[in-house]
Amino acid sequence: MISLIWAMSEKWLIGKENKIPWHVKEDLLYYKEKTKGQTVLMGENTYDSLKGYYKTKPLPYGKIFVASLSDRLFDDAIKVSDVVSFLANNKEDLFVVGGASIYKLSLPYADKLYISIIKGDYDGDTYFPSFALDDYLLVSSNETEKVKYLVYERNK
Ligand SMILES: NC(=O)c1ccc[n+]([C@@H]2O[C@H](COP(=O)([O-])OP(=O)(O)OC[C@H]3O[C@@H](n4cnc5c(N)ncnc54)[C@H](OP(=O)(O)O)[C@@H]3O)[C@@H](O)[C@H]2O)c1
Repeated sequence: MISLIWAMSEKWLIGKENKIPWHVKEDLLYYKEKTKGQTVLMGENTYDSLKGYYKTKPLPYGKIFVASLSDRLFDDAIKVSDVVSFLANNKEDLFVVGGASIYKLSLPYADKLYISIIKGDYDGDTYFPSFALDDYLLVSSNETEKVKYLVYERNK
């Protein structure tokens, strides 16, 4: 099962200068609860962004795959140099945790989407790629003052 998880503004913004444009603690807790100890796939920019947040602390996932086209080596992650064939051949439960370019490549393989809509207007430079939600069925929806939590599953 391949799941994508992300937080975006009502205008589909997801990033600013390789960081998250907002600080909404309840959504961070939701994200951590879903992804803690899980096998994840992320792009190199997102990896660097998370390292900036966690500094010397280990990232709170299980196995970490990092998509990168560079020669760089990662001491705590397995490098994936061809995301599309990696996803096409994937057999394990996997969370794709961003960013924009890796979400775009992963969408055709996504079985489940965890979307947090962060209310309010924010500035930034990176948007979630546009896609059709028609292939998915809304299976859960919860709303707080700050966030709308939506879960979709692909129509079989
Ligand atoms: N709001 C959220 O939920 C959320 C979650 C995660 C990240 N973000 C935000 O998203 C932004 C980062 O997104 P991004 O699109 O810039 O970067 P990214 O998706 O994190 O990383 C892109 C990396 O993937 C590599 N890549 C591209 N195509 C590939 C392929 N086919 N196989 C293997 N590797 C491939 C790229 O290599 P090249 O550089 O060589 O092209 C690049 O290094 C940041 O602002 C971050 O804060 C937001």
